[in-house]
Amino acid sequence: MDNYDQFISKKTDSLPDKGKISCISPSNIALVKYWGKRPVQLPENPSISFTLEQCTTKTSLRFEKCKELSDSFNFELLFDGKPKPDFKPKIQSFFKRIEVYMPFLKNYKFSIETTNNFPHSSGIASSASGMSALAYCLIQLEKQIHPESSESYFLQKTSFLSRLGSGSACRSIEGPVTVWGSHKDIDQSSDLYAIKFPGQLHENFANYQDTILLIDKGKKQVSSSVGHDLMHGHPFATRRFEQANNNISRLKEILSSGDIDAFIEIVESEALTLHAMMMTSFPYFILMKPNTLSVINKVWEYREDTGSKLCFTLDAGANIHLLYPEEELKEVKEFITRELVAYCHKGQYICDKIGLGTKLL
Ligand code: PMV
Repeated sequence: MDNYDQFISKKTDSLPDKGKISCISPSNIALVKYWGKRPVQLPENPSISFTLEQCTTKTSLRFEKCKELSDSFNFELLFDGKPKPDFKPKIQSFFKRIEVYMPFLKNYKFSIETTNNFPHSSGIASSASGMSALAYCLIQLEKQIHPESSESYFLQKTSFLSRLGSGSACRSIEGPVTVWGSHKDIDQSSDLYAIKFPGQLHENFANYQDTILLIDKGKKQVSSSVGHDLMHGHPFATRRFEQANNNISRLKEILSSGDIDAFIEIVESEALTLHAMMMTSFPYFILMKPNTLSVINKVWEYREDTGSKLCFTLDAGANIHLLYPEEELKEVKEFITRELVAYCHKGQYICDKIGLGTKLL
C-alpha cells in the first residue's frame, strides 16, 4: 500500500530566514511510455526512461521568510531573466498541490528564476526538467529545515513532488535509467515516485546517445493532460496498459543482457503504439508530420543497409529521438548531416546522451 503520510513534513518554528538555492535538472525520454493517468497524477501503467544530460533547466530559488503568515502563495517568476506571467498559474497549482507535504510554503516569499538550455518552444517538453528543478530546490530548503531526514528520503520526496508538477518529471531526478509506476518485477517500484532502475545496466548502453531531431516547432496540437484524459474509455486502454507492463518486464532483462536488437524492437513499438493510441482515441489526433515519417523510413533503410543499431522513439509530438550506441557516434552523425537534417525545422537538432539526474549548483 502506498503511503502518502511519509511525505508530510513536520511543522517547525525554526525556519531559515532567507537564502538562495540553485540546481540544474535534465529532461528524460521514455522507452516504455506513460500515457493515461488517474487522479492525482498517478500513472495507469509503469514507464521507464533514459535520463538525459544536455537538455536541462537551471533554476534558482530565492526565499525570504515573511513577517506574517500569508494566506496565499507569494512568489515571482522570471524566465530567461524576464517576468513570465503565463507560467504562473502552473506554479500556483503546483504549490497548492504540494502544500500539504510542505507546510512551510506560505511562510515564505519566493523568487524563482529559470532558464532552459534548449530552444524555447522547440517542441521539447520542458515540463520534466522545469518541474523537477523546482521540486529539487524546494527539497533543498526542506533539508535546511529538517536535516535529520535521510538522503534517500529526500530523493524519493523530490521525485514525489516533481510528479505532482508533471508526471514524467519524477523520472528526471536520478539516472541513467529510472522506473516510475508499480511493477511486479521491479523491486521498490511505486506509482508515487520514480526509482533508479534497480538492475545492472549492460555496458552496451553506457553513454547511449540521443540525438533529437526538431521536426516541428509549432505549439503542441494537444496538451499532454488532454492526451492522458483520452485514455479514459479508450477502446484499447486495458490491452495497452497490459502491454506496457509486459514491455517493462522484457526491457528489464534487455537492459541487463545488452541485447540491442530486442531493445530496438520494444522502443520503436512503444513509440508507434503511443501514437496509435492518439490516432484511435476520440477525438483523434495525428501528431506525426510527413517529415517524421520520412525520417522513420530513412532510419529503417539505414539500419537495413548498414547493420547499424540506430533506432527512434517519439514523445507526444512530431520530433524524433534517435537512440544509438556511443561507438556509432561518428557514422550516425554523418548519416544525420547527410540525410536527415533536410527534414529538420531550419536544420536544427540537439545532441544529447544519457545522464545522471538533477544536480545542486
Ligand atoms: O509528463 P506528461 O504529463 O507531460 O506526460 C508525458 C507523456 C509522454 O512524454 C508522451 C510519455 C512519457 O512517458 O514521458
